[in-house]
Amino acid sequence: MKSDEKRDLLSIDDLQDVFSDIIDWAITYKRDTNYHSDFQPLAGMAIGSIYEKPSTRTRVSFEVGITKLGGQPLTLSKSDIQLGSSESVSDTASVLSRYLDCITYRCFGHNSVAELAKHATVPVINALSDLHHPCQAAADLMTIRERRKPSQGHIAWVGDGNNVLHDLMLASAMAGYDMVYATPEGMAPDPHVLERATKIADSNGASIRGTIDPREAVADSGVIYTDVFISMGEENLDGKADLFSGFQVNDELVSLARPDYIFMHCLPAHRGDEVTDSVIDSGNSVVFDQAENRMWAQMSILTFLCNQQAWQTYKDLV
Ligand code: CP
Ligand code: NVA
Repeated sequence: MKSDEKRDLLSIDDLQDVFSDIIDWAITYKRDTNYHSDFQPLAGMAIGSIYEKPSTRTRVSFEVGITKLGGQPLTLSKSDIQLGSSESVSDTASVLSRYLDCITYRCFGHNSVAELAKHATVPVINALSDLHHPCQAAADLMTIRERRKPSQGHIAWVGDGNNVLHDLMLASAMAGYDMVYATPEGMAPDPHVLERATKIADSNGASIRGTIDPREAVADSGVIYTDVFISMGEENLDGKADLFSGFQVNDELVSLARPDYIFMHCLPAHRGDEVTDSVIDSGNSVVFDQAENRMWAQMSILTFLCNQQAWQTYKDLV
């Protein structure tokens, strides 16, 4: 693929023009596994995934999804390759582009994945940075669409103003859902991401509203979403966890939501901190559907980014 034709996925709004199709195709992959088993859009391709942070879902779902599509997955821990002190991100991007057809990258600072994308001549997918988690948002909106939620009520976020909230906010805005997020004082989402999401929401007749009161966010909601209070890389931040008093998603809080609400979490969950067992193990919880849907959503994204010809044929299949 020539560099001037390639597209990257750094935040979920990079797919704004095709987002609905990405979700449709993901649902089709999931529904028609057997029918599509001979459809191998990544045949002959190698996809490398670099990890600076640990991962269960992202790593396994990419490896299995790539294999299902006929491609070869390579998982590269940052500690095993020269990236970092011995070799720059830009040189790594140029070298890997000579072997690979796509690169996924889980990093700390978002600038690292942006830099990789700038210098790679093949598509780059952000597999989580401190600022964005687009693959999670694609799986989340797929899960919401599968459950036909929220048929009434809005999407409520209760927790940190973090990477998962940022892409959920952008994706909800693209899909036209109203959102109310509750974050503690000083933990609000990034203002630039919020501005982008608000603009998208406005153009789709949807709204985004922030509060510091979890009860206000959850009242009459159809979806409740939370994430860990302390993200990877923040483990040594003194006192951050103390700011989340009253932000636990528990039976009392969810009693304010619509009775048929769904509970969502990107996982891993810190049970007893941001959510109780009674909520995450309840019949309203769809957290393991979300985890499964990471694979189908990423298969759809990879097909779009790596094989435009195959992507175009999907419309005849669905
Ligand atoms: N949700 C998510 O990205 O999980 P992992 O950190 O296990 O990949
Ligand atoms: N906000 C969390 C998400 C983990 C999937 C983190 O960045 O650690």
